[in-house]
Amino acid sequence: MLLSQILLASLLPLGYGRSFGLYDASMQSQLRIQPQSTQDYLLTDSGLALLHLSSLPSDQYTALSHPRFPNHKVRVKQTQFCDPTVNVYTGYLDVDEGAKHMFFYFFESRRNPDQGKHWSECYICCLSLNLINMTQGPGCSSATGLLMELGPCSIDMSSKSSNGTLWNPYSWNKEANVFFLDQPVGVGFSYADYGETIETTETAAKNVHAFISIFFETFPQFSGRRLHLAGESYGGRYLPVFASEIYDQNQIAEKEERPILNLQSVLIGNGNTDISTLYLGRYEVECGRASFDIPFQSISACVRIKTSLPRCQKRLHDSCINRFDAIDCRAAVSFCDSELSTAMWATGRNVYDMSKMCEGANLCYKEEDVIAEYLNLPATRELLGVEIAGNFSSCSADVSAGFNSNLDKWRVHTQDYVANLLDRGIRFLIYAGTYDWQCNWVANKLWVDKLTWSQSDVYQQETWREWTVNGKAAGEVKGTDLLTFVTIWGAGHMMSSFFSVKVFMCADICFPIYVPHDKPAEALAMVSRWLSREKM
Ligand SMILES: *[C@@H]1O[C@H](CO)[C@@H](O)[C@H](O)[C@H]1NC(C)=O
Ligand SMILES: *[C@@H]1O[C@H](CO)[C@@H](O)[C@H](O)[C@H]1NC(C)=O
Ligand SMILES: *[C@@H]1O[C@H](CO)[C@@H](O)[C@H](O)[C@H]1NC(C)=O
Repeated sequence: MLLSQILLASLLPLGYGRSFGLYDASMQSQLRIQPQSTQDYLLTDSGLALLHLSSLPSDQYTALSHPRFPNHKVRVKQTQFCDPTVNVYTGYLDVDEGAKHMFFYFFESRRNPDQGKHWSECYICCLSLNLINMTQGPGCSSATGLLMELGPCSIDMSSKSSNGTLWNPYSWNKEANVFFLDQPVGVGFSYADYGETIETTETAAKNVHAFISIFFETFPQFSGRRLHLAGESYGGRYLPVFASEIYDQNQIAEKEERPILNLQSVLIGNGNTDISTLYLGRYEVECGRASFDIPFQSISACVRIKTSLPRCQKRLHDSCINRFDAIDCRAAVSFCDSELSTAMWATGRNVYDMSKMCEGANLCYKEEDVIAEYLNLPATRELLGVEIAGNFSSCSADVSAGFNSNLDKWRVHTQDYVANLLDRGIRFLIYAGTYDWQCNWVANKLWVDKLTWSQSDVYQQETWREWTVNGKAAGEVKGTDLLTFVTIWGAGHMMSSFFSVKVFMCADICFPIYVPHDKPAEALAMVSRWLSREKM
């Protein structure tokens, strides 16, 4: 029985105020509860040790607060969503005195379920596929990553299942407990009471740190476990900043003798991190032979791109990189995009997987539309405990516009966060499917190669070698235990996608429109080896 399991500092509802009323933890009697649907618990340090996640009910949210995070609260419930083989939870993190609400999914690991060891040692947090139209900003839901890539279930595109999803044997929760967080606010099912959005990565980092801390401090089964942050795409910008926030906060916590988060590593797939190599890389994958034996782009377009490239690079350096000037930087980006990206969009190809054509209204994948439909079903929303009134949309134009208005992608040298973390022993796995154009593998290879940190020379001296899964070559790998770069051949941006089974053999000339492109088994093998610190 929940009540007897936790020590409650106070359980005094003060009436049914506004849904997400102000909460002041310093005054423990001032607890407001959600109308009908939520039970509130204020957890004290001595009470923390007694609460276990699996004791939470599924028919209502349990609200958890912590005196150390007076502006935050976690509301969580169990749910039958997606993976019947493990405990699954969804909920909201209420931040900024309850005015913003970040939605999360949490899947227990499938590892060792029979041995009574329900919690594997690792946690992967914040998987978010923040796909973007890169010229604009981030702002997509982590539901894409969950239901299209590496989550415990995949959206059912073939109407085979009665519940809308299919169980994914290659889910990353096979290896670790996995959170998916819809962040920043305004994305997916996350929302703000007054419609505000978060507009910079650095602000988002504070909320993400609070989220992980509250969760880990509230549930004892988390404490001390190894934490990894993973993400894709705009995750290349987010995660180094989030990890740095966690690291810096750990230093403060340590001084004050508070528990710290056991941050181990960061995994970034097809990310955008160092903007200086992005366009160079695009030329190589589109016009060179970095991705296909025979480039698909027309010669005339390639010549035009190559001609504009030095000017684009110079303008980026002058106005975004060496010195940042918002007006000039925006003009530089706009020049680069119109000269260097127009030809790619004109091919009608999928910019996240050049081997395919763009399909569907969202992000070039039909699956996106089906995911939105599924997540908008009243039954699904009820299962998840969704609170927003409006429809789910996989990407938010407002959030994208907000980040874009701050030039969030261009303003900060995100790679310097990576270098600093590496120097402090936080490991980085940078991986890339070779068919992605947006955050292509060459751009990633180039920035990792030139990254300056204490062991740059050791990394640079390493040689490339093939890595294999079940005896078959999966791609190439280079690196050390601290920093590893991996390519996955023939995979797009969403390389872990599980359901994509369209296999078109390439006949005479290898200029395929469709090839088997997504590599879930390879992606899982990669993650599994990384988490256990095996060689790729
Ligand atoms: C949904 O149905 C599929 C196929 O029938 C099944 O494999 C899966 O476990 C079900 N998912 C849930 C959450 O019950
Ligand atoms: C993305 O941006 C490009 C160039 O700005 C535009 O042509 C394209 O239609 C946009 N694509 C999507 C899916 O929004
Ligand atoms: C949500 O989508 C449904 C079905 O597509 C539509 O009927 C409804 O008007 C939409 N609601 C909102 C608030 O946009």
